[in-house]
Amino acid sequence: MNILYISSEAFPLIKTGGLGDVAGSLPNALLKKLHDVRLLLPAYPEVLNKITKNKVIATTAYYGLPASIIETRLPGSKLIVWLLDCPAVFNRPGGPYTDHHGNAWDDNALRFAVFCRCAVDIALDKLKLNWQPDIVHCNDWQSGLVPALLNHHRLRPATVFTIHNLAYQGVFEKQTFSDLQLPDELWHMDGLEFYDQLSFIKGGLAYADKITAVSPSYASEILSPEYGYGLNGLLIKRQQDLSGILNGIDHDHWNPGTDKCLQQKYNRRSINNKSANKTHLQEEFSLPIDATIPMIGIVSRLVEQKGFDIILQAIEKILTKPLQLVILGTGDTHYEIELNKWAKKYPHKLKVNIGYDECLAHRIEAASDIYLMPSTFEPCGLNQLYSLRYGTLPVVTEVGGLADTVTDTSQENINNRTANGFVVKKQTATHLLQALERAITLYKNTAVWRQLQINAMSCDFSWQASAEHYIELYELALKNRQ
Ligand code: ADP
Ligand code: GLC
Repeated sequence: MNILYISSEAFPLIKTGGLGDVAGSLPNALLKKLHDVRLLLPAYPEVLNKITKNKVIATTAYYGLPASIIETRLPGSKLIVWLLDCPAVFNRPGGPYTDHHGNAWDDNALRFAVFCRCAVDIALDKLKLNWQPDIVHCNDWQSGLVPALLNHHRLRPATVFTIHNLAYQGVFEKQTFSDLQLPDELWHMDGLEFYDQLSFIKGGLAYADKITAVSPSYASEILSPEYGYGLNGLLIKRQQDLSGILNGIDHDHWNPGTDKCLQQKYNRRSINNKSANKTHLQEEFSLPIDATIPMIGIVSRLVEQKGFDIILQAIEKILTKPLQLVILGTGDTHYEIELNKWAKKYPHKLKVNIGYDECLAHRIEAASDIYLMPSTFEPCGLNQLYSLRYGTLPVVTEVGGLADTVTDTSQENINNRTANGFVVKKQTATHLLQALERAITLYKNTAVWRQLQINAMSCDFSWQASAEHYIELYELALKNRQ
């Protein structure tokens, strides 16, 4: 199959979160299964700075703004990447969605409408690239208009829309709909209209041939008002076409046996070497150097979704326990300030790094004994998967992909060797503390802990199985469309 994979970020060219990881690895997994895949990505300055070989393969314009398609490869792989270079909307300092202060770009609707129009042109072979997809795979709201704009074309590829996070919908005021010259027939309740506003994500949810969520549990949670963010009604209507496919992880990039970021590499057989990474991090962060103190790690966007409210409610009690807590993240100023305040008060127990640092993220995964991720909702979550692979036992709430990948350390699960982490049964500070207490207590039992680490490191969350599921879904989408 010819597959056009559309994403607003892809590691290692540009990444703000898990979507970047997925878009940087799933297309490669599909390529390995001998499908012909092209990744379409906006040419942000950070991306242009990272590519070496490139050639312009088409020039065009959207909304009067000159644009071109640059062909390159995803660094370190054979995957062909098509970069949409439209300087008027993408060439500016700052992030893919926000400026340096975290404020959304005020022309985001235009920026991603340009992106969607370009994807549609490729899908319909209007740019004469000598290649046309059978499948157009869209991800999150930034590519939401694509299935909507393709819908009325008779000879069109099949469309798949993946929901990575329903909380981000790309909703803009009504006027934007006409500013973007979108076809009138798309403006209705079962189309792009959302409470008299324009919703990009509805373009995917209403018009894609197939819809996926990034874990089976999240696919069913979003049918409820609690997790559906006003779109559960539409999703229930589309339930026949909605399924959950768990994200995989890149086993080469996240491999403690070969990870170049680590001071001490290790694997299942040499797991004793893991603790040298803890010693290094304790030194680096001026924390007491002691191999017996459990280290708890967090690498995260600092947003409500990731459970920082209950973490902050519990933090004083957490910090009176015999442990060290290491946090790397950026996000809401309120959380940054609060966490820094506690780090000042407990300098020997808490280290907070505000910033974005890929290598430090790897080193925290390797150094920690326990990984804390008490999300309020979690479509899939990748950090608990990286933690498992690094023998770092996750403490997680029972939601979305966390529920699908972490098996609690009950006596029964310990006995049958399926336990790989700790499940916080309810989203309260008290339940969080109880789960952490269980983890710290068990940590002292070296033999059991070692077995739990082996269980965790033996889990296979590579793309192998999930890429197969996507291919089956693409085949179904093609069949349905015919
Ligand atoms: P989400 O996409 O909701 O942020 P995921 O768990 O799916 O959550 O993926 C987050 C990805 O972003 C992981 O690869 C994680 O390591 C990375 N990440 C998040 N914050 C940072 C940070 N401050 N520095 C480095 N990597 C980060
Ligand atoms: C989103 C979700 C996260 C998921 C990631 C990749 O950012 O918040 O749970 O793992 O997308 O699918």
